[in-house]
Amino acid sequence: MDSSDQSTFEVSNLRVVRNGNEILKSISFRAAPGELIGLLGPSGSGKSTLMRSLLGVQAITGGSARIMESAAGSPALRGRLGYMAQSAAVYLDLTVEENIRYFAGVLVQPLSEVARVMDVVALTSFSRRLVSSLSGGERTRVSLGIALLGSPPALILDEPTVGLDPILRRDLWRTFEALARTGATVIVSSHVMDEAARCARLLLLRDGTLLFDGTPASLLATSEAPGYDEAFERLIEGSR
Ligand SMILES: Nc1ncnc2c1ncn2[C@@H]1O[C@H](COP(=O)(O)OP(=O)(O)OP(=O)(O)O)[C@@H](O)[C@H]1O
Ligand SMILES: [Mg+2]
Repeated sequence: MDSSDQSTFEVSNLRVVRNGNEILKSISFRAAPGELIGLLGPSGSGKSTLMRSLLGVQAITGGSARIMESAAGSPALRGRLGYMAQSAAVYLDLTVEENIRYFAGVLVQPLSEVARVMDVVALTSFSRRLVSSLSGGERTRVSLGIALLGSPPALILDEPTVGLDPILRRDLWRTFEALARTGATVIVSSHVMDEAARCARLLLLRDGTLLFDGTPASLLATSEAPGYDEAFERLIEGSR
């Protein structure tokens, strides 16, 4: 079988143990270009740990995580993997544009990228505002803009929509859909099950175990549940 060359992410039997606790228990999945994947699970289920493993900043106990043919964390992936951390990693005392320009410099991106990503995240009119004066949702969009610098073919976004109002969440999901349509593989985490409906594919994580990998429709069908919260509960009960 030789389909590995079509995978953006290839995770095999990934295990992470921290301080004697097994945080991720033999996780395996593949993701192809153009896929928009929701990584859903309750708080503490291991979403951020999985994302950090893909990024190559988390020590892996067993198994492997490969991104575009390279081991996670490999220098070959520099600039090809966009990441947005769960806590906004922006400078409060710089303006929106200064923040994005700073990271564009770090990533050796042309200045035209600064204007482009500000437009994508709808922050052009905020470009001269200090980040300290922005709302939570606006700060999130600055972080997202930074992750989009250079149009990386792989994106890992850790809870980008948490705490945002429904309109902003909808707009952000539209942005993720548009990115996937251009061929990017986008993994978005959330602990809000409602977001399941937005993704073409769902990975459901609980206590470090992948309980489900499939479409939202097949999740509802297989669990015979009226909604995503109930579907997830039934999956948990069934896995006990
Ligand atoms: N240094 C550590 N040592 C031991 N356990 C840890 C350590 N760091 C994190 N954990 C545990 O790992 C588990 C997974 O954490 P993780 O941050 O990946 O969860 P999450 O799904 O991202 O949660 P949230 O939705 O709250 O962001 C949690 O139970 C957490 O307490
Ligand atoms: Mg997290």
